[in-house]
Amino acid sequence: MKILVTGGAGFIGSNFIYYMLEKHPDYKLVCLDALTYAGNLETLEDAMKNENFKFVKGDITDREAVRKLFGEEKFDIVVNFAAESHVDRSIETPEVFLKTNILGTQVLMDASREFEVKRYHQVSTDEVYGDLPLDRPDLFFTEETPIHTSSPYSASKAAADLLVSAYHRTYNFPATISRCSNNYGPFHFPEKLIPLMIANALADKPLPVYGEGLNIRDWLYVEDHCSAIDLIIHNGRVGEVYNIGGHNEKANIDVVKIIIKELGKSEELITYVTDRKGHDMRYAIDPAKIHAELGWLPATKFDDGIKKTIKWYLDNKPWWENIISGEYKEYYKKMYDGR
Ligand code: NAD
Ligand code: TYD
Repeated sequence: MKILVTGGAGFIGSNFIYYMLEKHPDYKLVCLDALTYAGNLETLEDAMKNENFKFVKGDITDREAVRKLFGEEKFDIVVNFAAESHVDRSIETPEVFLKTNILGTQVLMDASREFEVKRYHQVSTDEVYGDLPLDRPDLFFTEETPIHTSSPYSASKAAADLLVSAYHRTYNFPATISRCSNNYGPFHFPEKLIPLMIANALADKPLPVYGEGLNIRDWLYVEDHCSAIDLIIHNGRVGEVYNIGGHNEKANIDVVKIIIKELGKSEELITYVTDRKGHDMRYAIDPAKIHAELGWLPATKFDDGIKKTIKWYLDNKPWWENIISGEYKEYYKKMYDGR
């Protein structure tokens, strides 16, 4: 079995590569990644030592390069993680989100059709469903919840999902889609909530909480996302959407307080800043379908996962210190100075 993993130098893609190399030692994995600001070859250093793994630098929107790779490698399965993934960046510069997330998906699907890939999996997000109100804790996103996007990021992911479904219906394209809630764990880029708060707290810097910090996210340990995708690509039904989440809803402020407590820091570091434009209030996944059809259940509880994650950031300081000392500084200044 040969699998193409796009975006594998990023957070979830790299975790998926490590998960698959261990779980399926007889599989061959090829990672195609453009190494944007979010991609990091150091993340794949250990994978590079495995003879079943190969890294290829390239852009999923580059039709010729993608065709050439598919022609050479003859993939059985394609799992598309490659994307621009940060909502805040999508508010500043939407265009690259449309290009990578929508057109890149189309290029990959066209190549998959031409070279008769047996299964194409689109890694999507619960953000395509928009948000739920805070005063209706009884509501959850199911696969039937209408698409209703809020940010340029979620709109671009939703457009890609619609295109995947259209390819399935029109060309009988063997695709599946998964929509997962917020992930956390090793190799999470330090501009996202959890790693940003860990890095700032360790440096005794202000912890910038948007608005009142009451927005709710449904956190899933990244390895549980990987195990769900593994099940879907092997046993999921073609043409279907699967929601992935572990009923782990937390308000942002509570997540920040847990991190502060684990690190033995002061809550005085919390700084409330101007809210994100169009900020989604609550995400909450109903994972009943993937549980019933594929027997998937998350293995890691938030209390354990956050401890493991904090330990990983403490044990792997060079990885993230290297990132935050570079171009990231400019990004941070632009997004947070005077906010
Ligand atoms: P990330 O930003 O950490 O990584 C994205 C990777 O894609 C990077 O390695 C980057 O270099 C690569 N990339 C970007 N543009 C590319 C292009 N044009 N061609 C080739 N490679 C390109 O993202 P992530 O958090 O790992 O998310 C991976 C996928 O999972 C995304 O599709 C995202 O929408 C989805 N998702 C993420 C979450 C989450 O909580 N992070 C939750 C649900 C779904
Ligand atoms: P983020 O990690 O960007 O993921 P997403 O927007 O895709 O859910 O943000 C998670 C939540 O944390 C979101 O409600 C925005 C909030 N947030 C802050 O309060 N402060 C920050 O500095 C960041 C990056 C996010």
